[in-house]
Amino acid sequence: MSPATKTKFKNPRARYNFQGRTCSISGVGSYLPSKVLTNGDLEKMVDTSDEWITSRTGIKERRLAAQDEFTSDLATQAALKAMTNAGITAEQIDLIIIATITPDMPFPSTACLVQRKIGAVRAAAFDIEAACSGFIFGLEIAQQFIMSRTYDTVLVVGAEKLSSIVDWTDRNTCVLFGDGAGAAVLQNRPEAHGLLTAVMGSDGQKSDLLFMPGGGSRCPATAESVSSRMHYLRMEGKETFKNAVQAMQTAAEEALHRCEIDISRIKCIIPHQANRRIIDAVCERLGAKPEQLFVNLHKYGNTSAASVAIALDEAVQSGQVQRGDLILMIVFGAGLTWGAAVIEW
Ligand SMILES: CC(C)(COP(=O)(O)OP(=O)(O)OC[C@H]1O[C@@H](n2cnc3c(N)ncnc32)[C@H](O)[C@@H]1OP(=O)(O)O)[C@@H](O)C(=O)NCCC(=O)NCCS
Repeated sequence: MSPATKTKFKNPRARYNFQGRTCSISGVGSYLPSKVLTNGDLEKMVDTSDEWITSRTGIKERRLAAQDEFTSDLATQAALKAMTNAGITAEQIDLIIIATITPDMPFPSTACLVQRKIGAVRAAAFDIEAACSGFIFGLEIAQQFIMSRTYDTVLVVGAEKLSSIVDWTDRNTCVLFGDGAGAAVLQNRPEAHGLLTAVMGSDGQKSDLLFMPGGGSRCPATAESVSSRMHYLRMEGKETFKNAVQAMQTAAEEALHRCEIDISRIKCIIPHQANRRIIDAVCERLGAKPEQLFVNLHKYGNTSAASVAIALDEAVQSGQVQRGDLILMIVFGAGLTWGAAVIEW
């Protein structure tokens, strides 16, 4: 760590006389299934138009996993790329955290299925469920284990096969979502500050804005639950929109405040890729410049827990983010949940 780097910002942990290790992302990777579903394709499925979808959301197309391709397969492909980029072997991984709302099955965890597929024989593995906020929640959990010296190497993956829970007859929701996965390997890198802070928040009072009623203990699968379409996601679009803008702004401001930096210090803002209008509204409220933003939702739609993980990988691979740059990630999702993280790349 150079002296110049040290004075760039306040490390929020310093205020607690922090004795642990810092936690950095040493490699990222992503995987998108090859099948593309365009707005034009959706025009043939429901009463919608490319013009409506583009102007209301910014989405032009999304990816769909094959019938025999599951969340653990998407996660495995992203994880293998992140491991290669980090220069680690499967045996080095101490912990696997998969953030998803579309696990292969209720149990065992998708993390255990990924562990088997990549051969991470030493790792503990579990899933977390924080909907679209899951990747940042996962980074924060990983950070706690690394800072405390419990583990050296943690694999965090956001992966979704949302096409399996989207009601393809509901134009209000089916145009928004897609499949994909993004992964990060977290380790201590003494030369970098790494993950400076991660803000997390939740409001269960608003759990009915975005949810899937069927498939859990409250409403197990029955012929009736299937015929009444309980196994598809449901959403109050307008209220979700309003809450997303407010929560993302608040979380981002809290993260910046903790680091005592202004938004102008951020090289790249990576917001949850749900809706271009949400992203623009948050950006405006934060006083950010459009060139600070990384946006890929026109290609993939909303991939929930995978969204910011895929975007981070693409921002890095495209050269928009260089080592030493500051990144601000901002998320929002069902629960409600939200979060923001400041990372020195
Ligand atoms: C869903 C969303 C795009 C709808 O945009 P909106 O501007 O709020 O649109 P409205 O809800 O006012 O709907 C306007 C009309 O378009 C119609 N409409 C909805 N989906 C449509 C579609 N795909 N094609 C054409 N018309 C559509 C509605 O039925 C409504 O018609 P009505 O006025 O006759 O009832 C927007 O609310 C949104 O993005 N919300 C947040 C969703 C989100 O991010 N969820 C994930 C959070 S992690």
